[in-house]
Amino acid sequence: KKRVFSGIQPTGNIHLGNYLGAIRNWVGAQDQYDNIFCIVDLHAITLPINAKELHQNTRKLAALYLACGLDTRYCNLFVQSHVHEHAEMSWIMNCYTPMGWLNRMTQFKTKADENPESVNTGLYCYPVLMACDILLYQTHYVPVGDDQRQHVEITRDIAQRFNSLYKKRVFTLPEAQIRDTGARIMSLENPSKKMSKSDPNPASRINLLDEPKVIKQKIARATTDSLRLVAFDPERPGITNLLTIYQMLTGQPEQEIEAEFAGKGYGDFKAALTDRLVATLEPIQRRYNEYINDMVSLEGILKQGADRVRPQATATLNRVKEVIGLG
Ligand code: TYM
Repeated sequence: KKRVFSGIQPTGNIHLGNYLGAIRNWVGAQDQYDNIFCIVDLHAITLPINAKELHQNTRKLAALYLACGLDTRYCNLFVQSHVHEHAEMSWIMNCYTPMGWLNRMTQFKTKADENPESVNTGLYCYPVLMACDILLYQTHYVPVGDDQRQHVEITRDIAQRFNSLYKKRVFTLPEAQIRDTGARIMSLENPSKKMSKSDPNPASRINLLDEPKVIKQKIARATTDSLRLVAFDPERPGITNLLTIYQMLTGQPEQEIEAEFAGKGYGDFKAALTDRLVATLEPIQRRYNEYINDMVSLEGILKQGADRVRPQATATLNRVKEVIGLG
C-alpha cells in the first residue's frame, strides 16, 4: 500500500475547513493506504501558545481525529514531539534548504504580518520541519487543503535537491492530494479570506465542537449578498461558499441543489444548511466526548502510534546521516 502522511496543528479550534479540506478525506480513503496522521505540536510553538493549552489541545485533537472516524486499524496517530527524529532531521535539512526558498513562502509572510511582535526563527523554518515530517516516512501522498500546496512543493524541492546532491534516492518524492471541492472553505464573515483557526472573530468559522445553537447563529449571520438568489456563482463568494459546504455535506450535484432552492430565499437555504451541519457534527461530538473522557486509552493510542512509526523515522534519519557523513 502507498504511504499517506498528514497533520494538523493543535493550535485551537478545529473547524469545518480542517474537516472538509483534510480530515474527512483522510477518513474516506483510509482503507486504501498505509496512513500516518500526526498532531504537529512542534509546529504549534512557532507562535506564542500557553503551555497548558498546548497540552490540552494536543489531546483534544487526538480525540477529534478518532471521533471523525480515523481508525487505528488503518492509521497510526501520533504526536510529533514524541518522535525525536522530526526535530533532529529538521536541523539537518535546514542546512540543505536555501534561504531564498523560505523567503518565497506565502504562509510565512502572512503569519509574520499578523504577528509582527512575535516572529521567530522557528516560524521561518516551519516549512523545513514540515518537509521532514513528510520525508521521514517515505510518503507518497499528502492529503491537505489548498493552503498547504506550496509547503508540499518545497518538500519536493528539498527532497529532489538532496537526492541529486548525493546521487542517491534517499527520499521518496511526495505528491499533494488536494480535492477540487472543499480544499478552500472560506470565512463566514469575509468570504474573500479562508476559514482559519486564528481568525479573531469566532463567528468567521464553524468549529467541529460548536453546539447546534451556535451553529445556527453563525450560519444566520454568515455574509451573503442582496441578490437573494441561491446559486453557485464565483462573483458571489459568500453564498457560493455556503453552497459548497452544503454540497459536500449532502453529496448532491450543483444543479440539484440550485433546483431545490429555486424561488426560495437565503433563510430557507440557511435553515437547511444548519440542519445538515448539526446532523454531521452531532455524532462527531458524541464520540469526541467519549474519547476525551477516557484519557488513559487516548494516551495509549498516541504512544502506540509513536512506537509504530518511529522505526521508519529512525531508518530514514540514519540513512541521511550516513549519506552526509555524520555520526
Ligand atoms: P493546519 O493545522 O493549518 O490545517 C490542517 C489541515 O486543514 C486544511 N485547512 C483547510 N482546508 C480547507 N479550507 C480551509 N479553510 C482550511 N484551513 C485549513 C489545511 O490545508 C491542512 O490540510 N502546516 C500544516 C500542518 C503540517 C502538515 C505536516 C500537513 C505540519 N506537517 C505534514 C501535512 C503534512 C498546517 O499548519 O495545517
